[in-house]
Amino acid sequence: MDTCLVAGGAGFIGAHLCKALLDKNLKVISIDNFISSSKGKIKDLEKNPNFSFINRDITKPLPDKIKANFVFHLASPASPNHHSKISYHALPLETMLANTTGTMRLLEFSQKQNAKFLFTSSSEIYGDPLEHPQTEEYRGNTSTTGPRSVYDESKRFGETIVAYFVRSKNVDARIARIFNTYGPGMMKEDKRMIVEFITQALEKRPLTVFGDGNQTRSLCFVEDLVEGLIKLMFSPDTKGEIVNLGSPEELSVLEYANLIKKLTNSDSEIVLSESLPIDDPHKRKPDVSKAKRLLDWEPRIKLEDGLQRTIEYFRSL
Ligand SMILES: NC(=O)c1ccc[n+]([C@@H]2O[C@H](COP(=O)([O-])OP(=O)(O)OC[C@H]3O[C@@H](n4cnc5c(N)ncnc54)[C@H](O)[C@@H]3O)[C@@H](O)[C@H]2O)c1
Repeated sequence: MDTCLVAGGAGFIGAHLCKALLDKNLKVISIDNFISSSKGKIKDLEKNPNFSFINRDITKPLPDKIKANFVFHLASPASPNHHSKISYHALPLETMLANTTGTMRLLEFSQKQNAKFLFTSSSEIYGDPLEHPQTEEYRGNTSTTGPRSVYDESKRFGETIVAYFVRSKNVDARIARIFNTYGPGMMKEDKRMIVEFITQALEKRPLTVFGDGNQTRSLCFVEDLVEGLIKLMFSPDTKGEIVNLGSPEELSVLEYANLIKKLTNSDSEIVLSESLPIDDPHKRKPDVSKAKRLLDWEPRIKLEDGLQRTIEYFRSL
């Protein structure tokens, strides 16, 4: 039986990925240090005999006794919200190290074990994009020193490390550039847009929108995203490839706020409360034609259905 190592396997996307891999009858070793997650998510997974968990920092070399054929690297804080204690703003050094040193450690491990490797990069590497929608060829518009740089520049350098290991060490590695993803299992403390709007609506508080709300976002439901990650790892001819994974359905932030208000039957007002955070992207929308061509993948779950399931999850907490 093949074994998948999932670094960041206790996180939002990581826990969904572990479950999907177990459902495919693969063995899963999840490694996490809970820096931006909690122990809750692995409880259900631990009931499966094919699942094991290691509490460890992936920036330290992995012991040789761990064996795996497939290595998924999802270990990095991901929330951009300044007010979140688990955001990359709150954990800047940890974020930079996880995406750089951590990526190198996991690639060294993959090289030794002859394992296939997947790095989760981000649409943040496109920065505030000057091309729309973003294809994988677009080189981005980021700041090396701005407040978001601890995340987007470390993802960019993480990609550079992956490309080096493919080119010079012949490691069978690939890169997923993930666009905004949402779904059940997100943490309230995460404070990303969807989490904030849903909790504000359910708690009958005003929905707070940054800026004028005309900035756009494209949101992918987590189950679709996880299917894309699995296809990218297991499909032939993906060595060295970079693939955008996300939803091309683009809405303004104000439209998301109104949709969530409708789906939660909320009377909350929508308040344009703060100016836009520095370097906040005005537009984000993936071109997913490469994923369609290479992986036969595109998101399937409709936005309203995905939001409904996410709202149910937050109601149940
Ligand atoms: N969620 C999104 O919309 C999104 C978008 C683009 C990219 N991504 C990327 O996908 C991956 C997963 O994101 P997520 O939303 O599930 O984030 P998350 O914060 O929920 O999960 C990340 C997990 O990695 C763990 N971790 C961080 N540093 C670690 C370290 N040094 N050693 C061991 N474990 C460590 C955290 O404790 C957490 O459990 C990240 O690499 C993120 O950058 C996510």
